[in-house]
Amino acid sequence: MKALVLSGGAGTRLRPFSYSMPKQLVPIANKPVLAHVLQNIKNLGVREIGVIVGDWAPEIADVMGDGAQCGTRVTYIRQDHPRGLAHCVEIARDFLGDDDFLMYLGDNMLPDGITSIAEEFAANRPTAQVVVHKVPDPRAFGVVELDADGKVERLVEKPQQPRSDLALIGVYFFTPAIHEAVAAIEPSARGELEITDAIQWLVANGADVRASEYDGYWKDTGNVDDVLECNRHLLDRLGAHLAGDVDDASEVDDQVVIGAGARIVRSRIHGPVIVGENTVVEDCEIGPYTSIGRDCVLRASAVSDSIVLDRAQISRVQGLRSSLIGRDATVGTGDWTAPHHRLVVGDFTRVEVAA
Ligand code: TTP
Repeated sequence: MKALVLSGGAGTRLRPFSYSMPKQLVPIANKPVLAHVLQNIKNLGVREIGVIVGDWAPEIADVMGDGAQCGTRVTYIRQDHPRGLAHCVEIARDFLGDDDFLMYLGDNMLPDGITSIAEEFAANRPTAQVVVHKVPDPRAFGVVELDADGKVERLVEKPQQPRSDLALIGVYFFTPAIHEAVAAIEPSARGELEITDAIQWLVANGADVRASEYDGYWKDTGNVDDVLECNRHLLDRLGAHLAGDVDDASEVDDQVVIGAGARIVRSRIHGPVIVGENTVVEDCEIGPYTSIGRDCVLRASAVSDSIVLDRAQISRVQGLRSSLIGRDATVGTGDWTAPHHRLVVGDFTRVEVAA
């Protein structure tokens, strides 16, 4: 079995970050989403991974390389424009050959693993097997309707009146029969080749399409709030490891990881918190639920429930919460005697300041 990971796309919901990086490289608990994805695939024993990339191809290849650091072999497949999930299958035809494969959206996090679902597919080998997750309000998702035997009867995109609470999530198992379905469908009203249309085509042609329920934690990390929520979830499982330096005037809780070369000075760290390599934290209160990248400098600040990306600098800011701070960003009070705010922020940035 091979895997096809989709890491192109526009990432409009994750602006302004997606202006300067692919959303699949946003770090969650200091590890890019895509690295979590490859790890999950490797845990299934799948080594051959095709990664669909768009304009961010060089940045993704820079970080993920040939996949060897995750114990996999990665082949990059370039998509000229986000033309839909089924288009990704079409352009990966040569890579996939006549193998079964697993398709995995590169911004989806399923930290509880999908081993049992992969085993189910291997044992029964239906024509296709989708993965579903029960959600309280399925209207924002592709919804799967099953017959009495658990066969997929219908897939409906964002139904106003859903007939089940089973939302399609970002993992699919396919036999090579999917290629005929992809070749048979036309672009949808939004101009994309939809994978749901291809699966629906299989159903309409009498194929055995099954659904497996994933009941672990699942998050599509397509927007800032979901990235932060996923960060909280992963940090809850954090152990403790202090490779960096913590001075005697600092207090550090149990669930805290401090990277090599990092320095914690006169600070209080409320776990779970992860601090990247060579970051300096001085006179701060950090956490809980905070991931700080490498080579950052934080001084006289309080930061909780946040992600701070590499090389960011934060000084003299109290009460920073539920924030995502980009690479090389500077956040500070500047001239702190002046009763005003000075902001230099990019397009589609969101800033919330206290009155
Ligand atoms: P989406 O999140 O549905 O699309 P998007 O990345 O364009 O995001 P937004 O809605 O915020 O503009 O895509 C799911 C995953 O599939 C994501 O990892 C990007 C990837 N993808 C491709 O690789 N090629 C494509 O043509 C599309 C539509 C998505």
